[in-house]
Amino acid sequence: MPSHPRQLTFDPAADRRLATAALVFAPALLLGMPTARAQGRRMLTPSQTEGPFYPLQLPADRDHDLLAHGAARYARGTPVWLEGEVTDVEGRPVRGADVEIWQCDADGHYHHSGDGGRADPDFQGFGRVRVGADGRYRFRTIEPVPYTGRTPHIHLKVKLGSRELLTTQVYVEGHPGNARDFLWRRLSDAERAAVTVPFTAGGDGRIAHLPVVVAA
Ligand SMILES: [Fe+2]
Repeated sequence: MPSHPRQLTFDPAADRRLATAALVFAPALLLGMPTARAQGRRMLTPSQTEGPFYPLQLPADRDHDLLAHGAARYARGTPVWLEGEVTDVEGRPVRGADVEIWQCDADGHYHHSGDGGRADPDFQGFGRVRVGADGRYRFRTIEPVPYTGRTPHIHLKVKLGSRELLTTQVYVEGHPGNARDFLWRRLSDAERAAVTVPFTAGGDGRIAHLPVVVAA
């Protein structure tokens, strides 16, 4: 006869206690690594001025594809995917954030009365996407072009509900106009690196990747 038969039997109560302990202590273990987390903190994406051409009225078609405006297709300029992910400084995706971009058409005109209303109606000019649990966003648009007084850029805004988390501008790495641009020049080297990205050949036209870090 075994001397300690109870040690070999299933004890549902003990099993529940073990599971509860795991739930209680697992987050505590994660929280017990502040040093490692602090070392991995990301720099906030620097903010830049909104500028004068945020749409007065958002277009009815304001999805991720700026090259398809209603039934129209925009065939000018160089098509590009602008993509990335929205995270907080700890690298956690900011689920539910809205990413907006707006930019001028291939001739340098915005959909805005302040720019003479000259923008090509086939170009959507503005897009908005809501990120999911992975924080990822993706836009189809054109590679930005210079216009009088500015180096090429795409305006970008991040909102969470009614809160604006970030307004900034995305620049083209290696563009000779950057060093002459009054807004780009205001940024530190680290800030420039955070918003100036390569537009490279991808599988489907060109592609640019911009990680966006916000205080959420
Ligand atoms: Fe602009």
